[in-house]
Amino acid sequence: MSNKECLIFQLIAILFLVAEITSKFEFTNVMCTSLDKEFGDFEHCYLKSVNRSYKYVSVKYNLLKSPVTKIKVNLAMFKRFNGYRPFMYNVTVDACRFLKNRKSSPVINFWFNVIENYTNFNHLCPFNHDISLEKLPVETVNFQVTDVLPFPEGDYLIETNWIAYDIKRAELKFYGTIS
Ligand SMILES: *[C@@H]1O[C@H](CO)[C@@H](O)[C@H](O)[C@H]1NC(C)=O
Ligand SMILES: *[C@@H]1O[C@H](CO)[C@@H](O)[C@H](O)[C@H]1NC(C)=O
Ligand SMILES: *[C@@H]1O[C@H](CO)[C@@H](O)[C@H](O)[C@H]1NC(C)=O
Repeated sequence: MSNKECLIFQLIAILFLVAEITSKFEFTNVMCTSLDKEFGDFEHCYLKSVNRSYKYVSVKYNLLKSPVTKIKVNLAMFKRFNGYRPFMYNVTVDACRFLKNRKSSPVINFWFNVIENYTNFNHLCPFNHDISLEKLPVETVNFQVTDVLPFPEGDYLIETNWIAYDIKRAELKFYGTIS
């Protein structure tokens, strides 16, 4: 490499670094759908902006058929190009097995680390109570997706499907932007 090429290369590297450090995640929407209202339904599901620096997501699902001893979670990520397209992940785990051994799925564990302190889903099976995710700060997600594992800029959708006894019961969609 000539000195000039070397300098250009360094400049580009610095630009990337700066872009990464200043990138920011924002939730833009959260949507919850119960696909089987006899099994359970959402009591609430919203994104709230308290002020410019404090925004959070709260979700509460009332479980009507408890206890639940068999549950699978599918997590698929999409990125918007020309419409939302599958991007990077599409994984399904047996939640009971995962909760016993968190290392069994690094992808699910990455996201579980984000929500763990804000949910009552953080114990071993069975589940015999309503499931909630309360006041998950956007800042926590921001740290995980821009510092822990930097994602490229863009609009994202994280879709989660909740499958109990091999039937899809609920769908949660988290929309966000990294800019
Ligand atoms: C935003 O609201 C939170 C919670 O009420 C508060 O602790 C924080 O100081 C507020 N931040 C600003 C910049 O007003
Ligand atoms: C994820 O994979 C499953 C099983 O291979 C498939 O049925 C499903 O359609 C996929 N989801 C997405 C969003 O691609
Ligand atoms: C969750 O709480 C534990 C213990 O208080 C703390 O060490 C950890 O950093 C928290 N994780 C997140 C993502 O906030």
